[in-house]
Amino acid sequence: MSLYYLIETFGCQMNAHDSEVLAGLLEEMGYRPAKAREEADLILLNTCCVRESAENKVWGRLGVLKRLKRENPGLIIGVCGCMAQEEGTAERIRRRYPHVDLVFGTHNVHRLPDLIREARESNALVVEVLESEGGIVEHLPAKRAPGLSAWVTVMYGCNNFCSYCIVPYVRGRQRSREPRSVIDEVSSLFAEGYKEVTLLGQNVNAYGRDLAEEYDFADLLSELDRLDHAGRIRYMTSHPRDFSDKLIDVLSKTKHVCEHIHLPVQAGSDRILSLMNRGYTRDGYLALVQRIRKAIPNASITTDIIVGFPGESESEFEETLDLVKQVRFDAAFTFVYSPRRGTRAAAMENQVPADEKQRRITALVELQNRITKEVNNAMIGRIEEVLVEGPSEKEPEKLSGRTRGNKVVIIDSKQHPGALVNVRITDGGTYYLKGEILR
Ligand code: SAH
Ligand code: SF4
Ligand code: F3S
Repeated sequence: MSLYYLIETFGCQMNAHDSEVLAGLLEEMGYRPAKAREEADLILLNTCCVRESAENKVWGRLGVLKRLKRENPGLIIGVCGCMAQEEGTAERIRRRYPHVDLVFGTHNVHRLPDLIREARESNALVVEVLESEGGIVEHLPAKRAPGLSAWVTVMYGCNNFCSYCIVPYVRGRQRSREPRSVIDEVSSLFAEGYKEVTLLGQNVNAYGRDLAEEYDFADLLSELDRLDHAGRIRYMTSHPRDFSDKLIDVLSKTKHVCEHIHLPVQAGSDRILSLMNRGYTRDGYLALVQRIRKAIPNASITTDIIVGFPGESESEFEETLDLVKQVRFDAAFTFVYSPRRGTRAAAMENQVPADEKQRRITALVELQNRITKEVNNAMIGRIEEVLVEGPSEKEPEKLSGRTRGNKVVIIDSKQHPGALVNVRITDGGTYYLKGEILR
């Protein structure tokens, strides 16, 4: 009789890719994907703790799973990912969620088969959270979602310690994979038929700094660009401080690397940027954007912004609005500052009240939506290379795809799913563009 598994993933794309590795390990053990929760013999929650709201989703989920466990006592419930690595989580689960069988951290994913065996044999909660990251374990089987796009992690962890951020605590120090391993993986993905590969890391521009040989992210991109394939290459996330002129030069010359740069600015005030420990100034960021746009005129630039960092004054918030107006981002992910235990910012005085943070984010979202719409409207008439992904979620009788700049385009056609096609943009909105395929 087969055993069935289900993985619920929270958080960023790195986590999504980790879930593919977890799935690969489970399938090697003989597990098969469950079609519904009720059918599962094993449920893993791969969690995120970057903001309190992310954690609350997981606690809510665990509450719901209690009933399932009552109905099916043989069910194994596991919690892994960033929240599991966080101090205090395993203890809280032991006390408040006795229906959970297993908690394991971010540094020992490869131990999953043994941990599941232990959990099956034990009546008590099995916990394995390692303090130190250890080396990179290569050649774990990933079970990727079938389709056009694949994720490849190029580096793990982060050394930046932005004062608001918990990621370095739960993901450990920066560790780059060997260029050879990355290149082999990417070329086999293209050979398997994937049309697009996204290179992942918390700070991909720092790739290679921890390697013995002298080799950086620009070197990696140019090497990947020269591989024999017709696909696209994307990457994220870029840290403004580490965005070198060499990288800009490489980006302006590569053929397969998409002209989309996700360049989180976080704030528009020098005082806040410095308190955040971001390592660049407002002017430094603006100058970088100019250098990028000069070298890559059609670059699509997106960002992350936090409002309500401790002590952020009204005028400092307005500096963020002003920067957004100056840069005119293609899109922005905007967040309300969420204190994370153990980070420096959480201990700062002058936390901004919740209603004020709410007011600021509303103003920011309104401004950015207006700009996104204007930027997208200005694309009407342009010809864009689009990877046609499949039926549109909004309008299932049409197809949806993405431009090189990572914008969603809805195409009034059923032809060419899975292909790279040229599309003339006929309409632009805040959330997507419309277009027609050129013959
Ligand atoms: N490594 C990436 C992003 C990591 S997390 C980078 O440095 O850009 C993704 C985004 O979540 C961050 O860019 C930041 O905008 C946001 N974020 C991180 N910690 C946060 C916190 N404590 N409260 C609110 N937003 C946060
Ligand atoms: Fe967090 Fe900063 Fe590292 Fe990004 S660069 S993961 S925001 S510490
Ligand atoms: Fe990603 Fe959340 Fe962890 S954003 S790295 S899953 S804390």
